[in-house]
Amino acid sequence: MIKNINIIGHKTIVFDSNKHKSILDAANEGGTVIDSMCRDGFCNQCRCALVTGKVEYFQDIILDDDRYILPCSCVPAEDCSISPGR
Ligand code: FES
Repeated sequence: MIKNINIIGHKTIVFDSNKHKSILDAANEGGTVIDSMCRDGFCNQCRCALVTGKVEYFQDIILDDDRYILPCSCVPAEDCSISPGR
């Protein structure tokens, strides 16, 4: 399934669920670097604001603020806009 992810301040990338494991993977492949470390939902280094849209996580993720996502651990459920940075 194809979804568009607007990475604010960078560009819109195309997420292909047959090709990409996570939003972070799609961003990196599209040439946008989002800071990351564990790439498994533990360190919060990749945290981005979710401006519009919805995501689905691979595993149970607990964030203290639901306006943010961990792009290493989720896929877009619909077209999204995200803003990297803390
Ligand atoms: S890179 Fe560690 S939580 Fe995403």
